[in-house]
Formats: sequence, C-alpha cells, structure tokens
Amino acid sequence: MNNYKVKFAGVSMSVPDKVLTNADLEKMVDTSDEWIRTRTGMVERRITDENTAASDLSYKAIEKLFKTVDIKQKDIDLIIVATISPDHLFPSTACILQKKLGLPPVPAFDLSAGCTGFIYAVTIAKRFIECGMSKNALVIGVELLTKITDWTDRNTCVLFGDGAGAAILTKAKKGEISEIVDTYINADGKYGDLLYMPAGGSRMPATTYTVKKNLHTLRMEGNKIFKAAVKAMGDAAVTILQRNGLTGEDIDWLIPHQANLRIIDATARRIKLPPQKVIINIEKYGNTSSATIPMAFAEAVEDGRIRRGDMVLLDAFGAGFTWGSVLLRY
Ligand code: ACO
Repeated sequence: MNNYKVKFAGVSMSVPDKVLTNADLEKMVDTSDEWIRTRTGMVERRITDENTAASDLSYKAIEKLFKTVDIKQKDIDLIIVATISPDHLFPSTACILQKKLGLPPVPAFDLSAGCTGFIYAVTIAKRFIECGMSKNALVIGVELLTKITDWTDRNTCVLFGDGAGAAILTKAKKGEISEIVDTYINADGKYGDLLYMPAGGSRMPATTYTVKKNLHTLRMEGNKIFKAAVKAMGDAAVTILQRNGLTGEDIDWLIPHQANLRIIDATARRIKLPPQKVIINIEKYGNTSSATIPMAFAEAVEDGRIRRGDMVLLDAFGAGFTWGSVLLRY
C-alpha cells in the first residue's frame, strides 16, 4: 500500500459582484445593521443573479486557480464538489464541471456535509492521493444559499451569502515542507432537524403546496445550533492538535468556518490563539457554508498573510450536524 504525502498546490476563490448590505436587509425585514453586526459580525454579503448556478461560480474560481499552480487542467484526475446548493440534485455539479473543463473520464462526485463540506472533501481527496488512486484532485466548496433563503425570515435571511472556493491537492515531493498533516471529521445525525430544507427531496417532492408554503428554503434553529457549534468547533480543533502533539502555540493561522464572529472568537479562545492569528472575512461575505474556508484561505494566500511553510488549522461545523478540522503546513 502506497502512502504518499499530500499538499495544497493552490487555492482560489470567486464571488458574485452584487453586494447585499445590512442596510439593504433593513428595507426587507424587521432587522437592523446594529443587530446583525453585534450578533454575527456580518456587514455585507454577495448574491448571484438568477442565471448563475454553483458550477458557474466554481468555474470562475477554477480559472483563477490554474493561473497560480504548476499543474495543468488536463492532469486533474479527481473532482469533489462540497455543496448543499448544487446546480441540480443530479447530475452532480462535479460532473457538470468536468464537462466545462473538457476533462476525460475521471471520478467526479458531489458531497453533502453542510458547512463542513470542504473539510470532508479534503479528507477524501487526501486519502485518494495517499494511496495512489489520484495524483491531482480538484476540491471545491461552493454555495449559493441565497437561492434557498426565505427572504421573509429575519432569523435566517441576514446570515447567508454566495461564493466558491477551489483548491488543488497533489502529491508532495520528497523533502518538501508543505503537507496536509492530518484531518478529522465527525457527525451526529440526531440534530438534523435543527438545520434543514423540508422540501425538494424524496421525503417531500415539489408540489404547488410546497412552493406555496415556501418549503424549498432553509430552516434553522440558530440559537440551539450556536451552542453546538461552539462546542464542536472547539472539540475539532483540540482533537486534531492533541493527537499530533501540538497546542495552539504551534499554529500560525486558524481558518474557521465563518458562521458567526462569536463562534469564531470562542474557538480561537479554546486553543488560546490570539485574534491576529485568525483569518476572518465574515464581514464581507457572511456565511457561504462549504465555501467559507477555501475563500478565507484563498484571500489570505493572495494577500500574503499565509505563506509556504505556515502551520494552518481549518475548522468547521455545519448541517447534519457535521464537524471537522484539517491540520496542514501550507
Ligand atoms: N434582526 C433583529 N432581531 C432578530 C433577527 C434579526 N435578523 N433575527 C433574530 N432576531 C431576534 C429573535 O427573534 C430574538 O428575539 P426575541 O428575544 O424577542 O425572541 C432575538 O433576536 C434573539 O434571537 P436568537 O436566535 O437568540 O439570537 P442569537 O444571539 O442566537 O443569534 C444567530 C442568532 C446569529 C442565528 C446565532 O444563533 C447563530 O449564529 N447560530 C449558529 C449558526 C450556525 O453556526 N449554523 C451552522 C452552519 S450553517 C450551515 O451548515 C448551512
């Protein structure tokens, strides 16, 4: 059995141009800029137009990505797309992207793990490369949650935005410092009904009733999820650090899922990480679910904060419930 080392070759992001501010939301529902800022840390978010789907936004991120890496498009031999807002239930957005990229037959599939999707996708891609089944994996986190948002529900409509992050995972060369050190994923299905979309699946297929009742939109009990997210994201960080004999002091950067600034602060405090070591862009993009981590990662690489050799901790929590972490040397 082979056991190759795996690294991030590069990471990129893409967001739609249209900005939706807290002031815009004040005109739509009974909310205030002050409430949204203090409760979530969000100031604005991006929303796609009606003609844009998950594969379109992903494709833009992928085009940027190939300009920054040595790997050629034709050398991609695995595509994993983490999303809960795919172009269609089927075929997978990964297969749609494979066609857009003009790739020959290679394994391509979508993965549903809510906001932890990117962590799950990296975990799987790493295993494929480690054992020699793949050489270069394209891993995407993309979400257009504004397409499944109930714009009359102030509890949820202020929280979400659209975006895509794309990364290539590849074999690390002998002696190279860059490597994905470890990944950790977990889930507990008994809390599934705290964050879900009631209709559109085989449980409740689309009917005029489901459309009239707005059942094709996201439902969330934010308050109950908040406590679980603080605990699970803290646990995910501590678990992966402990089993690698590390503490927060060994980490150069924490890239947490961007669902709520208070959850992010609590996670950093749990591993005693100072705020300047935490990558945060929630104020610009809101919660883009499985895209938050690759987007924040890409921004921090682009602006030079994260450099090759830095020790980085990715940490997420999402619908399912799911949670997990990735420890890597960039
Ligand atoms: N504007 C003004 N008031 C509001 C708004 C709003 N947009 N939304 C809710 N409120 C009100 C509520 O009605 C409530 O009023 P009441 O006290 O009169 O009943 C009050 O504000 C407090 O509501 P809470 O829900 O207790 O507010 P909380 O401080 O918990 O913040 C939030 C809500 C931001 C949703 C928070 O709970 C949260 O971030 N939860 C976690 C979200 C998360 O991590 N999700 C998982 C990932 S998402 C994914 O996987 C797709």
